[in-house]
Amino acid sequence: MRRKLAAGNWKMNGTSAALAELKALAQANATATVDILICPPATLLHRAAEVAGDSAVSVGGQDCHAATSGAHTGDLSVDMLKDAGAKSVILGHSERRTDHGEGDAMVRTKAEVAIAAGLTAVVCLGESLEQREAGETLDVIGAQLQGSVPDGCTGETLVVAYEPIWAIGTGKVPTLGQIGEVHTFLRGRLVERFGEETGSAVRLLYGGSVKAANANDIFAVEDVDGALVGGASLKAADFAPIIAALS
Ligand code: G3P
Repeated sequence: MRRKLAAGNWKMNGTSAALAELKALAQANATATVDILICPPATLLHRAAEVAGDSAVSVGGQDCHAATSGAHTGDLSVDMLKDAGAKSVILGHSERRTDHGEGDAMVRTKAEVAIAAGLTAVVCLGESLEQREAGETLDVIGAQLQGSVPDGCTGETLVVAYEPIWAIGTGKVPTLGQIGEVHTFLRGRLVERFGEETGSAVRLLYGGSVKAANANDIFAVEDVDGALVGGASLKAADFAPIIAALS
């Protein structure tokens, strides 16, 4: 039985004042029946971990460098993330892939390094609108999964997030059938690659314009084990009903 996961990606949003939202979230979720993860900007990570304390909310990074230390100005290593309190790290988000030219091989290396350091890698995949309209969605997703996810993953070390690029921050959401098709496909590929037990243990998140109004429907889709939420994770009051929909 996979434990549900409500993950929030704050992206490049939030200064110290945003910790009040995390505090509210942690207070409302001293314990929880689902896993809750918030990935704030790196500048807030350490304080966010302190604010989350021993509540059911854990914190994670939004990216890491593939090297473990060295001359990489402006980058963060997995050890730095861990030291700041991260338990997970988002990798291969489409904004990283687009803004920073990260390809599957880079994402895979980062995932290997993160997992070796004891972090859970939340690996993101997703097709563009052009790719969907060209009927290439499953080919694209399959290639990204194969290329971005390292060998030897387990249900503890890997989470896969399906985020169609055209649904991110747009208010557009795929049909439940489209989400189901991709998640069933991903599950099949994971089982093929890692075997029944491990392939069935990896959690699959949907991401892209998830909010209170659509969360229940999306979470009812088979093989959707939670969500990776952007905009609606910034305020505790917006994220709470999404967590509730999973609980
Ligand atoms: O990583 C989460 C994300 O890309 C979805 O963002 O704002 O559409 O929920 P949003």
